[in-house]
Amino acid sequence: MKIAVLKEQAAGEARVAATPETVKKFIGLGAQVAVEAGAGLTASVADADYAAAGASLADRAATVAGADIVLGVQGPDVASIAGVNPGAWIVAGLNPFGERARVDAYAAAGYEALAMEFMPRITRAQSMDILSSQSNLSGYKAVLDAASEYGKAFPMMMTAAGTVSAARAFIMGVGVAGLQAIATARRLGAQVSATDVRAATKEQIESLGAKAIFVEKVAGIEGEGSGGYATEMSDEYKAAQAELVSSHIAKQDIVITTALIPGRPAPRLITDAQIASMKPGSVIVDLAVEQGGNVEGAVAGEVVVRHGVKIVGHRNVPSRLATDTSALFSRNLFNFLSAFWDKEKGAPVLDEEIGNAIRLTQGGKVVNERLLG
Ligand code: NAI
Repeated sequence: MKIAVLKEQAAGEARVAATPETVKKFIGLGAQVAVEAGAGLTASVADADYAAAGASLADRAATVAGADIVLGVQGPDVASIAGVNPGAWIVAGLNPFGERARVDAYAAAGYEALAMEFMPRITRAQSMDILSSQSNLSGYKAVLDAASEYGKAFPMMMTAAGTVSAARAFIMGVGVAGLQAIATARRLGAQVSATDVRAATKEQIESLGAKAIFVEKVAGIEGEGSGGYATEMSDEYKAAQAELVSSHIAKQDIVITTALIPGRPAPRLITDAQIASMKPGSVIVDLAVEQGGNVEGAVAGEVVVRHGVKIVGHRNVPSRLATDTSALFSRNLFNFLSAFWDKEKGAPVLDEEIGNAIRLTQGGKVVNERLLG
């Protein structure tokens, strides 16, 4: 069983899919691990550290040659992994809806592509969930990005020269990223409020010491679909939400948006007119910018100014904290593969529940129902 760890090729991707810690653990399971030279450099891991953990280091071609499992943060181009064993597993964040052509190419090449972002949200898979581990740190980083763009302080400060008032921060979308954003903004001393469409988040917001801003008495408030994810809301709900948010947003200094609906474009939460109602110097961070954006006018990869308000749209926010996000991502992959490790075969064997959820391709075909439906 040979596991290949690739150096990421996507522009701006600084993470790596294995760390010396997980390399050592894979070797402990009986696997052989090859790491592409330089794979960890942008995440602060030197080649020598992988070698010390027992990995062999090589160029891309030698790394993938004869590999049974290929680990990546993002999906590798099919041509770049020629030489892997027939039916090899590609285990990575494969962006199945956004990179459909690549998924088809994996099928055509006979690989078994496993999309880690399709991991079901069940208790036993929590430690394998890359969306959670990466969103958590994105929520943290979004607040720091906001703080560094903001021309004022977050906490209230009493100084000899007068008082600096606390920033008001509003978090829209309270999933994993939003909860961490609330906690981080609170730690920095902001006055924090938050909203979501899932009623269950109200208590979570309050337990973190923030104020919950919620639409009441409108059909569809539950907002919860399968697996704890949000569903698309009714028009009546959307109108009530927009009205509530409009009056609240005008008083905010910092807004962080994190709202996503799986398999659909991100819901639009802030219009240009609402931005115009905010004070100049306010900062909005749109964490959903790559999925279509929660904020009108947000541009992926840029910080733009509209009506005096900065709108931050960094791409690939987890990559901006590559050392920690790589460590967590790598553990997610190890936790996943090791949970299914068959000692006799010396290879992982997936069960139906998780296998069917994450397997995109098998036997030359696309097999995942979310892609077929
Ligand atoms: P997500 O990244 O899909 O969405 C972020 C947040 O945006 C969600 O809270 C969603 O309700 C909210 N949202 C969607 N549309 C909105 C709108 N129009 N206005 C305001 N907010 C809107 O969600 P994430 O962070 O992946 O987590 C969703 C849930 O799944 C959470 O309850 C989380 O605790 C749960 N979860 C469960 C796991 C497990 O059991 N293995 C693992 C990870 C998360």
